[in-house]
Amino acid sequence: MYLISNLVKVTIPNYLAGLPIPDSIGGWFHLGVKDWLALVPPTLVVGGISYYSYQTVKKAQAAGNVHVNHCVRKDIDKVVDFVEIEDITEKAVLCRCWKTKNWPYCDGAHATHNKATGDNVGPAIVRHKEKK
Ligand code: FES
Repeated sequence: MYLISNLVKVTIPNYLAGLPIPDSIGGWFHLGVKDWLALVPPTLVVGGISYYSYQTVKKAQAAGNVHVNHCVRKDIDKVVDFVEIEDITEKAVLCRCWKTKNWPYCDGAHATHNKATGDNVGPAIVRHKEKK
């Protein structure tokens, strides 16, 4: 425990106090090569921690976004639709991406979704066999 305590209370503060960080913006222009080299390790550490944190938050957000339905009848527990086969004259193009504004029919919104996300979803097309 002493090692951690000493690291946090003495070693790191002494290291940071010894960094050649100027007191003014103009001071940055007067730093020498040795000064800039001394700033590389802490810059890499801060950059690495920032990048790792950003990636972690990004993954957590993606994992938590599990709903596929963002807009269709959100006021009910389960969206179930019936399309009467007799009502289909030639074919019915049914949405499977949940992005259509004409539920349950595809309005082409899957193309925008696919382009934005790299997904490959498309509609289910129901048609009469004899009318291929
Ligand atoms: S709009 Fe959803 S599959 Fe076409």
